Amino acid sequence: DLQRRSVLRRIGGVAALSTLAAAGVWFGGGRSRSLAASASTTMEGPFDVDLRLRAHPAKVPILPGVPSDVWRYTAERVAGPNETLTPVGESYAGPLIRLHRGQRVRVRIDNGLLEDTTVHWHGLHVPPNVDGQPRLPIEPGTSTTVAFDVVDRAGLYWYHPHPHGPDGGRVGPQSYAGLAGPLIISDDTERALGLPDGERELVLILQDRTFTDDNALQYIGSDMGAMMTRMRGFRGEQVLVNGHPDARREVSTQSYRLRLLNGSNSRIYKLAWSGGRAVTVIGTDGGLLAEPERRRSVTLAPAQRVDLWVDFGDTEPGDSVQLVSEAYQLEMMGGREMMGGGGMMGRGMMGDMMGSERLTLVTFDIVARVNDSRALPERLAEDLPTSPVQADTPVRRFELGMRMMQGFTINGRRMEGATVADDEIVRLGETEIWEFVNNTMMPHPMHVHGLQFQVQERISAGDRTDLHDGIIDAGLHDTVLVFPEERVRIALTFKSFEGLYMYHCHNMEHEDAGMMRYYKVVA
Ligand code: C2O
Ligand code: CU
Ligand code: CU
Repeated sequence: DLQRRSVLRRIGGVAALSTLAAAGVWFGGGRSRSLAASASTTMEGPFDVDLRLRAHPAKVPILPGVPSDVWRYTAERVAGPNETLTPVGESYAGPLIRLHRGQRVRVRIDNGLLEDTTVHWHGLHVPPNVDGQPRLPIEPGTSTTVAFDVVDRAGLYWYHPHPHGPDGGRVGPQSYAGLAGPLIISDDTERALGLPDGERELVLILQDRTFTDDNALQYIGSDMGAMMTRMRGFRGEQVLVNGHPDARREVSTQSYRLRLLNGSNSRIYKLAWSGGRAVTVIGTDGGLLAEPERRRSVTLAPAQRVDLWVDFGDTEPGDSVQLVSEAYQLEMMGGREMMGGGGMMGRGMMGDMMGSERLTLVTFDIVARVNDSRALPERLAEDLPTSPVQADTPVRRFELGMRMMQGFTINGRRMEGATVADDEIVRLGETEIWEFVNNTMMPHPMHVHGLQFQVQERISAGDRTDLHDGIIDAGLHDTVLVFPEERVRIALTFKSFEGLYMYHCHNMEHEDAGMMRYYKVVA
């Protein structure tokens, strides 16, 4: 046990945990025993897929040299098709869970950590008690069982922890320590398209990490910069793909499907190809687009997913092609002073909000010539569900603001347990427009639980062509990036389940600091 405790202290850096403790931040504990028990499922079997998922400390090799202490998910298949679980690399990433639309799924979640955790099924339309919300913590050494029907469209989703106590959240440190995994839903319509699969379908989780000289993960430190870092969001010095640095993949001259998840705490990527080929987007958070979109670059904010199609048919064995993250044009983030006064909170810091450096994400080494005559279909999906927006569809407005020394707010409020205000109650079956108004100097990736929405409109001050160039607003999303001085309107429909869900900024340091609220669906 002493050993486990020292692991705990190392993860996220000694400094991070001691800093949070010094700041009075919550470390878990048995405050909500009865609620935890009530998360157990009442859904009847038989279950097409039955899994055990465990969150626990481990040591895995990440950098050359000594292995790193991480927290990770491992899973075991009790029942279900073979393809349900596949490892993602040999690092800390949680296994890829593959589900098919229509399956009934049960997962027993074991908490092998020394603090409370939950497992949230990001992007999935699941009942409130299955959603892994902080009001239903799983205490250390205990388990909870959830069950749900797979009702969502084919797409890349993911799972990650979502604990948040009275004094703050632990999503940032727990995810950073390694707790996150991808989840793919397939369905018959998508299968009929014959998109690249098997070895030609790659799941790529983008994360950034900072290490000490002896390969320990470092999170937010206790120095003077810590407060600023927490405000901006943590950014690591090094990009890891599926938990590995310097990611390389050997490919042939065929077409590939790349399914990317931004699992970083706060870093925003601007995806592009070396050599200038266009980025072909075939899907977003909620599955395939109606038709492919081609862009010079594609912006991927924390928690967002993007499904890319790439054809290496124009390359030769011996060539390599890199997937990179481009540097942002800093001056575009300048804008007006949002904090009243500017000064040190002004321009320099705004530019720094985006991942401003150019980074190599994955190098594709072309090793074989294989002729591939399959072209990308011009129509990808006919079944895109739409929220029926009418002239009288109600608009609910959420002002993203900031309070000095307290961090970010939504309509002036911060996370306060499982409470909702009058303007956070919506009706089952109804369609609404939500308008996120960004009155801060930072971009916020706003996420809504339990549904996929459509982006209706972006209203910006001034010309934002450069920033918007990489934004894919078509298709279905559960997370939308809202730039400073911008308002974004989304259309959403509250289907199937009554009860509490959440909406929040998915910059993990922002949500942990309270930029997160519940909303309630009532009949
Ligand atoms: Cu991926 Cu509430 O989050
Ligand atoms: Cu979510
Ligand atoms: Cu934010």
